[in-house]
Amino acid sequence: MATEEKTLILVCQNSDCKLKGSEEIMVRLQEAFADNEGIEVCPYMCFGTCERAPNIVIYPQRQWYSDVDASDLPEIVEALQNGSRVERICDQVDEGARDFIYTLLDVGIY
Ligand code: FES
Repeated sequence: MATEEKTLILVCQNSDCKLKGSEEIMVRLQEAFADNEGIEVCPYMCFGTCERAPNIVIYPQRQWYSDVDASDLPEIVEALQNGSRVERICDQVDEGARDFIYTLLDVGIY
């Protein structure tokens, strides 16, 4: 029997994202999903799209949230719970940058 893949919420904790509140964002997401064994919220070193900080990547769903504000979190949490995405802040960064990070994640490099 195949096991279901865990959803990772990767929250950048490098300097640009941290300066714009990514620590608080990560803590709030960890609290929101504390009882959900299918979702893990983890720090990430840098996605390379620092000009659009704070950045969050949801994998394997391949959702990339940029310019995230704490006020966006209820929508992001709700979207994750119902299998949708918050279109207005999703996949706004360069496609090549996204593909590069997704390739790293696909081969298990976090
Ligand atoms: S500092 Fe967050 S993407 Fe680089």
